Amino acid sequence: MTGPAILTYNGQTYELPVVVGSHREAAIDISRLRETAGIITLDSGFANTGSCISNITYIDGERGILRYRGYLVEVLAAQSSFIETAYLLIFGELPTADQLKDFRSALTRNQSIHEDMHHHFDGFPPNAPPMAILSAMINALGCFEPVFMGEESDDQFVLAAARLMSKIRTIAAASYRKSVGKPMIYPRSQLRYTANFLHMMFSDPYELYEADQTFVDALDLLLMLHADHEQNCSTSTVRMVASSHANLHTSVAAGVSALWGPLHGGANAAVIAMLTELVETGEPLEHFIARVKDKDGKARLMGFGHRVYKHFDPRAKLIKAACDRLLNKLGRSDPLLDMAKRLEEVALRDEYFIERKLYPNVDYYSGIIMRAMGIPTDMFTVMFAIGRLPGWIAHWREVRKDPNSRIDRPRQVYSGPVVREYVPIEERN
Ligand code: CMC
Repeated sequence: MTGPAILTYNGQTYELPVVVGSHREAAIDISRLRETAGIITLDSGFANTGSCISNITYIDGERGILRYRGYLVEVLAAQSSFIETAYLLIFGELPTADQLKDFRSALTRNQSIHEDMHHHFDGFPPNAPPMAILSAMINALGCFEPVFMGEESDDQFVLAAARLMSKIRTIAAASYRKSVGKPMIYPRSQLRYTANFLHMMFSDPYELYEADQTFVDALDLLLMLHADHEQNCSTSTVRMVASSHANLHTSVAAGVSALWGPLHGGANAAVIAMLTELVETGEPLEHFIARVKDKDGKARLMGFGHRVYKHFDPRAKLIKAACDRLLNKLGRSDPLLDMAKRLEEVALRDEYFIERKLYPNVDYYSGIIMRAMGIPTDMFTVMFAIGRLPGWIAHWREVRKDPNSRIDRPRQVYSGPVVREYVPIEERN
């Protein structure tokens, strides 16, 4: 039992309850502080603010631990699949054989998109960024699913989750085909989730693409390792939109937009751009690292650092190993992988990175795997979105099921002008 925290402010003392989580992590509940003491808390970037109580994912950033619903991510990576893990995240338990079969069959039954949706792709200009298309098309998809636009029953929710998970993959592949001026490819029911996606990306009407099992396994792992990461920027966005009782589709579309930024999911593409530049220019790594450390410069070591991990990101370790396995199996080398490893070594020896506890994150090696499969760089963040979808769905549901959920509405400290007189335009100078 943890006693209350005591706050003294303006000569008065206030008792603040302390909430304790499963791992004894404690949080001071300040929800009634303004009401009782007339003061709010300020925490730019929410680095020290718990926005909710959640039972989906646990991270211990100091020790580099990540668990989905209590299961270590390393164990899931070795024994589970993306779809089984998605089920675990969304519904809270590992599925039985029958439940998994039913879920897979719901994914297959719902793999195609309404024929009219195909025409929506024509409205985008050539070279439109696939993340923009994805966000817009998830909202458009919601319009084709009016039954899921409101309060879903539990049964409807299972179907809504399966339909969205299945169709996001079809939309993602179609957005790529559109961006390269190729015809859209229909899904094939005999293929499983990841292989079906690769088919829709790379088959042609006159030639079927049979995905190498090595690619399928590597992509499945990659999707699983992205499946949830507690209150990150995009998931918090999904939760915030859900708190207004917005529907699943539009909440997820907002999550896609948040994920797009280079400090979040967009980092995987930025890493490849950075490594390519280093290989092409031959800039000495010590020189590049000096640029990254320069506070007046704009460069960052992309794929390094994390708000929560102050130790190795466990996903980065698994992805680095998968990257080595994949390239060895294919008997290929990639100058970007060699560069990434050299750069990592230089950074991890540098006092700047040691002091700030900056390590490779999930995005550092993931792009190299995707490149090996022929996935173009502007699709990398879309792949992250497909992987993150089960987490977004689980968090959306958690918000909607929580009887204590209220609309998210932070406060602010106003720092603008106090009161000003309106000056007619002719008197302004
Ligand atoms: N390169 C150089 N310096 C860095 C980096 C980096 N990648 N990351 C952090 N720092 C420095 C930063 O300048 C600051 O230094 P100082 O204390 O002297 O001001 C210190 O480390 C703390 O950084 P911060 O920016 O205050 O940390 P944050 O928690 O606000 O940001 C981050 C976290 C991930 C946005 C940041 O580390 C970053 O920009 N990394 C590169 C982009 C990236 O790889 N993003 C993917 C994140 S993982 C996947 C995901 O969640 O989307």
